[in-house]
Amino acid sequence: MRTQVAIIGAGPSGLLLGQLLHRQGIDTVILENRSADYVLGRIRAGVIEQGMVGLLEEAGVDARLHAEGLVHDGVEIAFRNQRHRVDFKKLTGKTVTVYGQTEITRDLMEARTASGALTIYEAQDVQPFDFDGDKPRLRYRKDGQEHEVACDFIAGCDGFHGVSRQSVPAKAIETFEREYPFGWLGILSETPPVSEELIYIHHPRGFALCSMRSPTRSRYYVQCSLDEHVDEWPDSRFWDELKMRLDDEARAQLVTGPSIEKSIAPLRSFVAEPMRFGRMFLAGDAAHIVPPTGAKGLNLAASDVHYLSRALVEFYREKSVAGLDHYSARALARVWKAERFSWWMTTMLHNLPDHTAFERRLQVAELDYLFSSPAAAMAMAENYVGLPY
Ligand code: APR
Ligand code: PHB
Repeated sequence: MRTQVAIIGAGPSGLLLGQLLHRQGIDTVILENRSADYVLGRIRAGVIEQGMVGLLEEAGVDARLHAEGLVHDGVEIAFRNQRHRVDFKKLTGKTVTVYGQTEITRDLMEARTASGALTIYEAQDVQPFDFDGDKPRLRYRKDGQEHEVACDFIAGCDGFHGVSRQSVPAKAIETFEREYPFGWLGILSETPPVSEELIYIHHPRGFALCSMRSPTRSRYYVQCSLDEHVDEWPDSRFWDELKMRLDDEARAQLVTGPSIEKSIAPLRSFVAEPMRFGRMFLAGDAAHIVPPTGAKGLNLAASDVHYLSRALVEFYREKSVAGLDHYSARALARVWKAERFSWWMTTMLHNLPDHTAFERRLQVAELDYLFSSPAAAMAMAENYVGLPY
């Protein structure tokens, strides 16, 4: 089999890249090692920057997003029983859209099926080869048979545990990492959200977040320790813990109900440099991870795909390699700013077990500054709504 761009991974990065390229007449094949149902079963963040909304429009997958997505003009930060609002619309003129990553993935999968482009699910042992030359190839197994795909370029959109980054010789890649000594215990419930906007909570018992998927579906998180297990968290314990961290008004408003999903996720910051190895390009979680505080993971995947899709279109249209040559530096410049913002939000809002009294005082000063200084609020707002591409 031959294609122009072979994409590894049918998560949001791979599917969005495939769709943007398809709209420009570029042929792609996606190889995904899981089933479509498995990919759709993953529940992740759901706050979309305006830049990503624009990309989804360009990809022609914005109908449901515009019909069902909730446009938010700001967020609230709760501290010492008081809520402080950061008004994105007023500060930056921009908003964010609350729409689950699962729904975006579903919309992209449907668009890909409608386009007739090929996605091979349950492709086993996918392996990229020869990407240091001009004839890269991929091999995979399916139903006991070996297959090969010849292509012009490989896009490694296969997430943090994917094979693309792991196929690069160790000496060609440098990685930067921070693991945080706590996790997020999250639940999804068929209950109306406690508030119209997201509430990020800094509390002596630990961080909490009130988010949502729709007017009838809520997503809540509490900071937990890494050695805990979901089985130790029956719904009643989760709701009790959340209530203790809420401000009085939110506690009175909270509607509880049975959870429909419950999981614990570790928090990590990670960047791999560069993001290009000959004719193979990494995008999304394959190249970088942010902790979820600030919801930048999906949006960063989108900005990578923006730079990469434009570079590939430029190559096929104008025979120019300029965009491809600049891809890594352009993407990383934005990645590192989002890494900084996600690390800052995480450090400001969580209880860090290794924090000294000095650092805890600095945390209070940071929050106080954010609530009292328009310049500080502006800095948060412009990062939250998304830095320009
Ligand atoms: N071969 C083929 N496919 C693979 C392989 C492999 N060896 N390894 C992983 N995959 C697939 C995974 O099954 C998954 O469907 O690659 C896909 C990667 O998708 P994601 O992990 O969702 O990564 P990405 O598309 O970059 O999306 C980034 O996801 O994790 C969140 O916070 C992140 O929201 C952000 C978004
Ligand atoms: C979510 O809704 O899952 C969510 C929202 C905001 C975040 C993280 C997660 O910062």
